[in-house]
Amino acid sequence: MPIFKILLLPCILSYGMQVFHLFPYHLVSYGFPTKIRKLIGTRYFNKGYAAYAGHLNSSFQTARDSEGHGTHTLSTAAGNFVPGANVLGYGNGTAKGGSPHARAAAYKVCWPPINGSNECFDADILAAFDVAISDGVDVLSVSLGGDPAEFSEDAIAIGSFHAVAKGITVVASAGNSGPSAGTVSNVAPWLITVGASTMDRSFSIYVALGNRKHLKGASLSEKTLPAEKFYPLISAADAKIADQSEEDALLCKPGTLDPTKVKGKILVCLRGENGRVDKGHQALLAGAVGMILANDEDSGNEIIADTHVLPAAHISFTDGEAVFSYLNFTKEPMAFLSNVRTELATKPAPFMASFSSRGPNIIEESILKPDITAPGVSVIAAFTQATGPSDAEYDKRRTPFNTQSGTSMSCPHVSGVVGLLKTLHPDWSPAAIRSAIMTTATTRDNNGEPILDSTNTRATPFADGAGHVQPNRAADPGLIYDLTVNDFLNFLCNRGYSKKNIQLFSDKPYTCPKSFSLADFNYPSITVTNLNDSITVTRRVKNVGSPGTYKIHIRAPPGVTVSVAPSILKFQKLGEEKTFKVTFKLAPTAVLTDYVFGMLTWGDGKHFVRSPLAVRHY
Ligand SMILES: *[C@@H]1O[C@H](CO)[C@@H](O)[C@H](O)[C@H]1NC(C)=O
Ligand SMILES: *[C@@H]1O[C@H](CO)[C@@H](O)[C@H](O)[C@H]1NC(C)=O
Ligand SMILES: *[C@@H]1O[C@H](CO)[C@@H](O)[C@H](O)[C@H]1NC(C)=O
Ligand SMILES: *[C@@H]1O[C@H](CO)[C@@H](O)[C@H](O)[C@H]1NC(C)=O
Ligand SMILES: *[C@@H]1O[C@H](CO)[C@@H](O)[C@H](O)[C@H]1NC(C)=O
Repeated sequence: MPIFKILLLPCILSYGMQVFHLFPYHLVSYGFPTKIRKLIGTRYFNKGYAAYAGHLNSSFQTARDSEGHGTHTLSTAAGNFVPGANVLGYGNGTAKGGSPHARAAAYKVCWPPINGSNECFDADILAAFDVAISDGVDVLSVSLGGDPAEFSEDAIAIGSFHAVAKGITVVASAGNSGPSAGTVSNVAPWLITVGASTMDRSFSIYVALGNRKHLKGASLSEKTLPAEKFYPLISAADAKIADQSEEDALLCKPGTLDPTKVKGKILVCLRGENGRVDKGHQALLAGAVGMILANDEDSGNEIIADTHVLPAAHISFTDGEAVFSYLNFTKEPMAFLSNVRTELATKPAPFMASFSSRGPNIIEESILKPDITAPGVSVIAAFTQATGPSDAEYDKRRTPFNTQSGTSMSCPHVSGVVGLLKTLHPDWSPAAIRSAIMTTATTRDNNGEPILDSTNTRATPFADGAGHVQPNRAADPGLIYDLTVNDFLNFLCNRGYSKKNIQLFSDKPYTCPKSFSLADFNYPSITVTNLNDSITVTRRVKNVGSPGTYKIHIRAPPGVTVSVAPSILKFQKLGEEKTFKVTFKLAPTAVLTDYVFGMLTWGDGKHFVRSPLAVRHY
């Protein structure tokens, strides 16, 4: 299986399970920062990779993390408390993972890419799932995935089904292929699928232009320019070597920049294609004193603080347009870059990362994915010292902590929360845990406004699922939407799977039911893909809180009327279950050309049990 555009490693947490005895502790200090003191084992899986790559030398016979992804994700899920954690001096404070007292194990299944993209092989992924299950883990954090694929052809879907069938919760990244629609992957209904959003911490750098305009960018540049000193500013397109294209030069690709034009100036590069830090490296090689990295239109407001090798500011698309316009209309353009400042409680936050893969779910459109969003932009976590923070050959710096961005980083945030929930509620099923996380999520940012997309418009559930995770609320959701292993098997039956395909998932032969309605599949979100006139779906909730009377609150999607019966649910005891019906009716004059969204909330005054609604005309 090819993976997302970045290297990924699954890491797996274990709570209260036996300590592994297969791996001596020296592996821990050799391969991983000692910060992750609860790392109780590492394993590696390379037979699938070897079958393709040929002979593997000794550098492949180890779980050592040579490029940092596995260390970063694992410490986000389960890292211990570490005071004085910072990246090149920025963001200094006490770091910890989501489940700081968990014991963790790492299962390495990804290796250096061969011919571009072959790095994590299905055979190795499945072997890792099998071993993790028999090791007795409680949570699997899978920052790994390929393009969305039919479940019977998706190693993560198959491996995770076996884990979920044993009560192990599996959390997976939604992918980094956004913001295009229909890009979300890891869409099996037994997975928790996690998108990525920002947090309220910025590493800010200010750009002053000669026209007195000030712009706010993001950066983790170690080096800074002398205070208040302005330098000539040049667009990389105007700094091209004669025989290179303007497009390539504007992207600051290797070998496109003319040092005689760049020397001593601040270079403006466009985001896209080659790496963000590499653009700065090219600028530095050409003699630039600084770089302004401007977003393309798709990347919108998503600015990322990278450990640049020269003073550099990453700015939004709108701010980039202001810089280009200034360059176009100014004879001697000048600019200044400030020092980098760590800013806390920045607003608005969170908002969606543009790279986060978006719904709809193209494998099974009636299951809304992603399920949830969590922090995934400029996340500080532990890092390997086998490579520099930019993971580039030329980067000789070594940092025990690093910032990384991706749904690989948001996934272990949710895995950490799952660890805490498992401790509080050891009897909850993986579906119950997911329900608690989804129905208690927030769809508001720290301005009290709806969470925004990276384009400044309201984010839809295709970007943020049920919303941004709220761990404390997830501990006490009030009601849960549960699902059993048989529900998941029935779901596969409904896809027309043969006995043979079902056996990829089920250890025992399974007889498919005569009738099954996917509309009534007890998912915590509701998607109606073909509304014509009206449709009614059934859901079932279980009381996991105190006795209470829940009333329905409906925010109907525009052009659709939604009614719920009964509209009051009275629970007398713990574990009591009630069903209800939701009817969607197309308004007589409505013309729905695309999905419309709403929300359904059960509230007892204390708990608010929210389900996103997504409806499309047939
Ligand atoms: C990688 O691609 C090259 C050129 O297409 C090919 O010759 C080689 O066999 C490929 N390597 C593997 C391991 O498939
Ligand atoms: C092992 O093989 C890799 C890939 O071919 C190579 O980059 C590396 O230098 C080799 N290491 C050793 C120790 O031989
Ligand atoms: C980080 O904070 C700790 C505790 O306040 C302090 O001792 C340390 O010097 C700080 N490190 C940096 C790089 O600012
Ligand atoms: C600046 O000029 C370039 C080249 O003529 C043009 O492509 C670009 O759209 C202009 N940008 C702005 C913001 O004026
Ligand atoms: C939609 O509903 C109308 C009126 O009930 C019916 O005539 C039509 O055939 C339906 N279309 C589909 C695709 O089901």
